[in-house]
Amino acid sequence: MIASYGRLLTAVCALASTAAAVAPLEVKGKDFVNSKTNDRFQIIGVDYQPGGESGFSSKNDPLSNGDICLRDAALMQRLGLNTIRVYNLDPNLNHDKCASIFNAAGIYMILDVNSPLSNGALNRGKPWTSYNDKYYEQVFGVIEAFKTFNNVLGFFAGNEVINEDATYSTPKYVRAVVRDMKEYISKHADRDIPVGYSAADVRDILMDTANYFECELKNSTSSRADFFGLNSYSWCGDSNFEKSGYDTLTEDFSNATLPIFFSEYGCNKVKPRKFTEVQALYGKEMTQAFSGGLVYEWTEEDNKYGIIKAEKDGSVKTLVDYDNFRSELNKLDMKQVMASNGTQTSVKPKTCSPDIIVDKKFYNAWDLPEAPSKVSDMINKGLSDAPSGKWVKVEATTIPNKVIDKDGKTISDVKFEILSTDTSNSPSTRSGTSSSSSESSSNAAVPNGPPSLALGGVGGLFMLLASLL
Ligand SMILES: *[C@@H]1O[C@H](CO)[C@@H](O)[C@H](O)[C@H]1NC(C)=O
Ligand SMILES: *[C@@H]1O[C@H](CO)[C@@H](O)[C@H](O)[C@H]1NC(C)=O
Ligand SMILES: *[C@@H]1O[C@H](CO)[C@@H](O)[C@H](O)[C@H]1NC(C)=O
Repeated sequence: MIASYGRLLTAVCALASTAAAVAPLEVKGKDFVNSKTNDRFQIIGVDYQPGGESGFSSKNDPLSNGDICLRDAALMQRLGLNTIRVYNLDPNLNHDKCASIFNAAGIYMILDVNSPLSNGALNRGKPWTSYNDKYYEQVFGVIEAFKTFNNVLGFFAGNEVINEDATYSTPKYVRAVVRDMKEYISKHADRDIPVGYSAADVRDILMDTANYFECELKNSTSSRADFFGLNSYSWCGDSNFEKSGYDTLTEDFSNATLPIFFSEYGCNKVKPRKFTEVQALYGKEMTQAFSGGLVYEWTEEDNKYGIIKAEKDGSVKTLVDYDNFRSELNKLDMKQVMASNGTQTSVKPKTCSPDIIVDKKFYNAWDLPEAPSKVSDMINKGLSDAPSGKWVKVEATTIPNKVIDKDGKTISDVKFEILSTDTSNSPSTRSGTSSSSSESSSNAAVPNGPPSLALGGVGGLFMLLASLL
């Protein structure tokens, strides 16, 4: 009995993943590519942490409230975004609604596996004290919670762990975390979900950091990062390619052999932000090195980086930065942004060796720590008690929240749409009332189309089966 349910369940899982809106992405050379069409994918996104860093607790994280996710997904569709990054997640909360919503909206997710709670991150000063099974309950717990979802673009093993305060050997611990996560994923997920690292823009050690994670290690191929994010705020106001230092970054990463992107950008020293860097970031020159980026950040918090203001009652005001970002995105030539390029996808990494590290103070050996035995057990057997993500039914709808623009005028066209299968959201997917651009030809989104039904049907069947088991 159990065996036959098991097989049925596997069949249903396979069905569920084909019914989802977005096609999983893969890493090929220095590009992200769509696994179905082989088109290049460039990240057009925002960092998503409603409530700011302090908005996170064991009761509430950015992907635990379906109503808020629905509202925000609709406003992101209107903007043309295809990716969010989420920093702090509690693996014990239920994220199924939010993950299914963003998926149906054609929006990918890059998820940090660390959290600010105790045992939630590596200690950069003494990493050996936190490299243990308690920490890995968090790391593998996040993987379990999200591995089902097609729209997981990747996981960040760490964010700015290696900085001025880090101890000399910290890089090898972070690379060991990449290895352990990739091994866990290869044993317990249906696809090789990419794993990467997000770096601070500390220019003296930036290239050493990238090279440390990027190089190939013959005796531990799984420890190589699949992508590299860079938090960069060097373009402020009406800057340009040279003044912002984007030219140097482009040159520095021109030989990269993995996807590079801005995991945070959007300097706010000059307000309002105009986001003129968007044309540079997605232009011909820069896209040889970069795969797009994520604006910091979605909601307005104390540090004043938001593009929308969310009120306690769920209503929203779109800020002038939202409009400015939107009009820059609408100028992009999406055909060019998503064009594949064989030169980019065929690059091969260098072998790890001390001579690829320039700064004498940067760790230049790859003697990675072995996983503690309890962690090896987790990798081999899987986390038994961790909740694992499941698809839920999502329906297209007009969102109930009141939305006003920067001048206080009501925006009435905010609608959550379900995109057709294998489609991701893009600036040209929808034309808002204020924009006169015609409906895109590359993205024939079918609002209320079959994916909704398919998802619902499969989700329902899945839940029925789950309750039988
Ligand atoms: C990139 O590779 C080319 C060809 O090997 C080399 O001339 C150039 O110096 C490299 N650039 C960087 C920034 O390493
Ligand atoms: C393909 O990529 C290479 C290297 O990134 C670049 O030099 C070349 O111009 C690109 N080709 C096209 C057609 O964009
Ligand atoms: C793997 O190779 C690196 C670099 O050559 C070396 O430092 C490390 O000790 C090796 N690890 C093992 C387990 O052999």
